[in-house]
Amino acid sequence: MYMPSIVDGVKVTDKLIMASRICDSVLVTGSNRGIGLELVRQLADSPLPPVQIFAGCRDPNGPRSQELAQKHHDVITVVQLDTTSPTSIAEASKLVEAKLKGKGLNLIINNAGVNIPGSLVETGKQEMVDVFTTNVVGPMLIAKDFHPLLCKAAAQFPHQTSMSCSRSAIINVSTLLSSIKRCPENFSVSPMYPYRVSKAALNMLTCCLAEDFRKDGILVMSLHPGWVQTEMGGPEAPLTTLESISSMLKVITSLTEKESGTLLDWEGKNIPW
Ligand SMILES: NC(=O)c1ccc[n+]([C@@H]2O[C@H](COP(=O)([O-])OP(=O)(O)OC[C@H]3O[C@@H](n4cnc5c(N)ncnc54)[C@H](OP(=O)(O)O)[C@@H]3O)[C@@H](O)[C@H]2O)c1
Repeated sequence: MYMPSIVDGVKVTDKLIMASRICDSVLVTGSNRGIGLELVRQLADSPLPPVQIFAGCRDPNGPRSQELAQKHHDVITVVQLDTTSPTSIAEASKLVEAKLKGKGLNLIINNAGVNIPGSLVETGKQEMVDVFTTNVVGPMLIAKDFHPLLCKAAAQFPHQTSMSCSRSAIINVSTLLSSIKRCPENFSVSPMYPYRVSKAALNMLTCCLAEDFRKDGILVMSLHPGWVQTEMGGPEAPLTTLESISSMLKVITSLTEKESGTLLDWEGKNIPW
């Protein structure tokens, strides 16, 4: 059996992951707080950070992302990105393209998301449309507009047939509550019609894009961060953003073509559709 050795209290495998650059360039949407902000923070603080981190925020002048960007001004660019606005997405893709100066974009983490908790009685057309617009339509338009930059990144690895996040990938931040198979065991705890239905649709987007972009060498998968202490997750959640994201980044680093078109959790365990 494989047993990783321990050095300085850290597994050697973890040290190797931390010592290698996750990718050259990454865009994280919804970076103003919660999971998105911590993703940007841990990526920037890693021993070998990406050369360019694009922190997508609805309000690029928000104090938290600005503070982080000032600390890592050589690495982080805050980009105005409202994922409900096709114009904002198109302009963000042009800005990122200009900043990359002819290079491709390796990784997009579609993290921006909303939850309007709602039982059937509380849920109407507007709630469904609002949550769908952010959680499904946004990631779809981002994939479409940034596709040329992802293709360019994949093509910069001409001798590589395998897929990875260091080459070219989209990670859609999903949830356990999106799983149709697991719905009977957790529905009564959190009915959340708009959220569950939208994230199940996001998973289908993941599957469609994984098939569509396979020919381009672009990996696409869905990742559940766990139940995390954020404004959305609430204070009772068992995981801190620090714990969830450090584990998610290990999973992201280890992804190959085998995981394209799958739904995994923050520890790399498979979740059934
Ligand atoms: N926390 C959990 O337990 C949990 C569990 C499973 C999955 N998730 C998923 O993880 C992701 C992040 O969740 P979180 O817990 O960090 O939530 P959060 O604390 O509510 O933060 C959500 C982030 O998304 C941004 N956002 C919302 N709508 C946006 C839009 N139209 N355009 C751009 N950004 C937008 C928000 O921006 P503003 O700051 O401008 O509002 C905020 O930065 C979501 O996709 C969520 O579904 C979370």
